[in-house]
Amino acid sequence: MTDTGNASERDFWSGPSGQSWVTSQEEMDTQLAEVADLVMRHAEPRKGERILDIGSGAGALSLMAAEAVGPTGHVLATDISKPLLDCANKRGRDLPQFQTLLADAQITDWPDMDYDLAISRFGVMFFADPPAAFANIARALKPGGRIAFAAWAPPSDNPFWKIPTQHAVAHLGQPPKIELNTPGPMGLADVDLACGRLAKGGLIDVACRVETVQLRHPKGARAFANLCCRISAAKRAISHFEADSAAQKAIEDAIAADFVQFEQPDGGCAIPASINLLTARKPH
Ligand SMILES: C[S@@+](CC[C@H](N)C(=O)[O-])C[C@H]1O[C@@H](n2cnc3c(N)ncnc32)[C@H](O)[C@@H]1O
Repeated sequence: MTDTGNASERDFWSGPSGQSWVTSQEEMDTQLAEVADLVMRHAEPRKGERILDIGSGAGALSLMAAEAVGPTGHVLATDISKPLLDCANKRGRDLPQFQTLLADAQITDWPDMDYDLAISRFGVMFFADPPAAFANIARALKPGGRIAFAAWAPPSDNPFWKIPTQHAVAHLGQPPKIELNTPGPMGLADVDLACGRLAKGGLIDVACRVETVQLRHPKGARAFANLCCRISAAKRAISHFEADSAAQKAIEDAIAADFVQFEQPDGGCAIPASINLLTARKPH
């Protein structure tokens, strides 16, 4: 693969972190269901359209898009991680309109002007060179083609990031910080910067709305805390410090105690989340 600066992300998502997401795919898709709904609402896919899902992971959003475009349309789920894409492939194998492509979206040589719409749920914050990546995605769009991407707003607006990180740091110390607006989960955290990067990629009518959705776990605060120790916020510190099971349990206990405030009458847990919803289109 050409050196795009994305090798560390490829390795991260192809190694234990990607594998862990595959194992927990149902739990993750339940957690992030309202984010997928948000993207779909703004993307407005139509029957027969051709859609590119960037950083599709295990394919939840791609499968929703495939359902929306129907058998006369086409959805290409594309990701840099083989284990995640294999999972997507398995889930979509019975749909003739669904395909997968193992690729770095920043440089993939897809055909010019082939797609009506590019979508993503949290798959576009990791590029080493965001304007180059967005230009490459724009190249794949037909004139007038649309974009709808969801990215995290800053951790200060997201208890899902803030609370687990605080407890992990309190127990283990500070791992390398997740910097805002650099490649990583917070890569498009600043709305003005994010819009600027899409515009630099040649897109127009760029807009970013900060939307609130609920992140859900049907089994409540303890189960949600456990998930945070396996994927995303607390997991980064746990991996960095190679925390033993006693430390992991202490972190999980502390997160669960804080997450109780988000428990619902039905026993599930719903954590409000701020999402940067980016839309744009390619000029005619
Ligand atoms: C947070 S996960 C989101 C996965 C999926 N969209 C979802 O919501 O379930 C981020 C995804 O972006 C992918 N990714 C990161 N950098 C990429 C790149 N340069 N090109 C394509 N995919 C990339 C990762 O492999 C990972 O699957």
